[in-house]
Amino acid sequence: MAVRKELFGKSRDGKEIMLYTLRNSMGTEVKIMNLGATIVSVLFQDKNECFRDVVLGYDTVEDYYNGGCYYGALIGRSGNRIDKAKFSLNGKTYSLAVNDNENNLHSGPNGLDKRIFELTKECDDRITLTVQDKDLEQGYPGNFCCSVTYILNEENELKLHYEAECDQDTVCNLTNHTYFNLGGQESGSILNTQLWLAAKEYTPVIDGQAIPTGEYAPVAGTVFDFTQPKTIGRDIEADEPQLKYVGGYDHNFVIQREQGIDQRFAEAYNPETGICLEAFTDLPGFQFYSGNFMKDEKGKKGAQYTKRCGFCLETQFYPNSINQEGFAKPILKAGSKFASTTTYRFTVR
Ligand code: BGC
Repeated sequence: MAVRKELFGKSRDGKEIMLYTLRNSMGTEVKIMNLGATIVSVLFQDKNECFRDVVLGYDTVEDYYNGGCYYGALIGRSGNRIDKAKFSLNGKTYSLAVNDNENNLHSGPNGLDKRIFELTKECDDRITLTVQDKDLEQGYPGNFCCSVTYILNEENELKLHYEAECDQDTVCNLTNHTYFNLGGQESGSILNTQLWLAAKEYTPVIDGQAIPTGEYAPVAGTVFDFTQPKTIGRDIEADEPQLKYVGGYDHNFVIQREQGIDQRFAEAYNPETGICLEAFTDLPGFQFYSGNFMKDEKGKKGAQYTKRCGFCLETQFYPNSINQEGFAKPILKAGSKFASTTTYRFTVR
């Protein structure tokens, strides 16, 4: 089936923002827009044969510009935080846009989430969206070209395949910021979602900054241990400084020390809908964010969003890894190609 295209709205500078629909034979449907290569909706059939939209978002382009949560967006060229919005590479120091305390978050206010991507390839089950990010945009060196291919297959897997190249050495840490709610995007709190995480370690953060200290800490015996499934809410209010520092779960979990083999790192399950999400990546880690900073606002189809009504599993190199000894560095060398795949698989139980 050909990819369906429809007009979603207009960008602030009057360009067409398109919505592309991928659909498989089970009726699973993923909508993506070219602003920020954003995943706008994922419709999946629950155990009662009712289609649920399991990701958060808005109804209009303007709401995406105004929103501060990065719903569904591709984040780049550097996801998560860079301490004091500075790093050195090849003996040169780069100052980045500051947009989170003194830090650079998700590349700055004009990251790839705010850019219009071009549809460069399409086929029955996939689209490729591409964007150019010019030298020193948000402070990052080099003319950077990034593409993402979204594939929806017959196994109800949504694959996000990233590729990037640059004409200078640069930072490349691409992720996607989808907020999942497996009860349906309008269903409220995610605290009853059951979660399993493969991670045996996480990277503790500095008070108030959400920047890793540089240590690897075992999850065993802590609130960060999800190696046996538990609800997201079970320990979230525990008297644990690491949770207090960032208002809940907003931490990087360790999959592997370097980019490596594709691994299943998470499984989330909503007992009411029976919808289960499994996640896979070849990257070193992922940010598990429990939506602590979400504000009351209107989402899609009049849904009322509140604090913790969506959770994110953002696959990535560790936050601030460009400045941190002992963390694999997200450096893309001039003349080489970055490639990585993250998969979200939906099943019903
Ligand atoms: C960060 C959070 C932040 C959220 C929205 C997440 O990736 O870890 O701290 O509030 O993005 O910006």
